[in-house]
Amino acid sequence: MQLTDSRALVTGATSGIGRAIAEAFAREGAHVLVAGRDTARAAEVVAGIVASGGTASPVVADLGAPDGVAALVEAAKAHGPVDVLVNNAGIYPVSGTAQTGEATFEAVMNINVRAPFFLTAALAPLMAAQGRGRIINISSIAAHVGTAGMALYGASKAALELLTRSWAAEFGPAGVNVNAIAPGPTRTPGTAPMGAGLDEFTSGFPAGRPGTPEEIAGAAVYLAGPGAAFVHGATIVVDGGRMAS
Ligand SMILES: NC(=O)c1ccc[n+]([C@@H]2O[C@H](COP(=O)([O-])OP(=O)(O)OC[C@H]3O[C@@H](n4cnc5c(N)ncnc54)[C@H](OP(=O)(O)O)[C@@H]3O)[C@@H](O)[C@H]2O)c1
Repeated sequence: MQLTDSRALVTGATSGIGRAIAEAFAREGAHVLVAGRDTARAAEVVAGIVASGGTASPVVADLGAPDGVAALVEAAKAHGPVDVLVNNAGIYPVSGTAQTGEATFEAVMNINVRAPFFLTAALAPLMAAQGRGRIINISSIAAHVGTAGMALYGASKAALELLTRSWAAEFGPAGVNVNAIAPGPTRTPGTAPMGAGLDEFTSGFPAGRPGTPEEIAGAAVYLAGPGAAFVHGATIVVDGGRMAS
């Protein structure tokens, strides 16, 4: 068990990649704070973790609401110090630039950039005061390649990757490792509407298929664990070889 005696806050842990990270962290011995907007979905994930012998608590907040980040920080701190923060909650509407309205722009930037920024602002100094901590930002290969319809989303994830490197410089000297994971197309409830399109899209990649949430969670376990003590400001690409080919 790599994460015994640690407490991990995972945003967007009620679905897909975040849920897989929460479950994997719990298997490694962490107490997981399962964050999402939906109380019932959070309770279901917690119940599954507990049924498997792990420990977890729900922490519910809407990260798009003006006071959502503050509410989540308070709810998390009520459980004790947070050792690992995973900024996973994200939205990825697909639309052309000319078809993207300001409300969509604000929603994407609010969830994908503002929420990780202020969660980190609140929790990283507390980790630094303890002399240890891990922050893992879930980016996307959309931050690395220009794709029609993904300009706004890709820009939000590119911002998150720059924040990752900036926070590594800012908090690394105090013992806080900040890194990112850039998944490729992954089969989750969020990408379910793509159906077979996801298989077609990924068929030409070296892996020849979409990723699973568990395959992304493996990288998160590594970055949260003792084996990544010397890793700062890195982005681990987990994309079935898309960026390599
Ligand atoms: N799936 C992919 O192919 C892929 C590829 C690259 C990167 N990613 C990134 O991986 C992350 C997870 O993706 P996914 O496919 O697993 O997503 P998903 O299945 O759509 O789940 C999204 C999660 O984010 C939470 N969330 C959304 N809006 C929120 C808000 N306003 N406040 C609080 N929580 C909110 C949702 O919680 P509630 O519904 O409970 O509110 C849910 O747990 C995202 O950052 C995404 O950009 C995904």
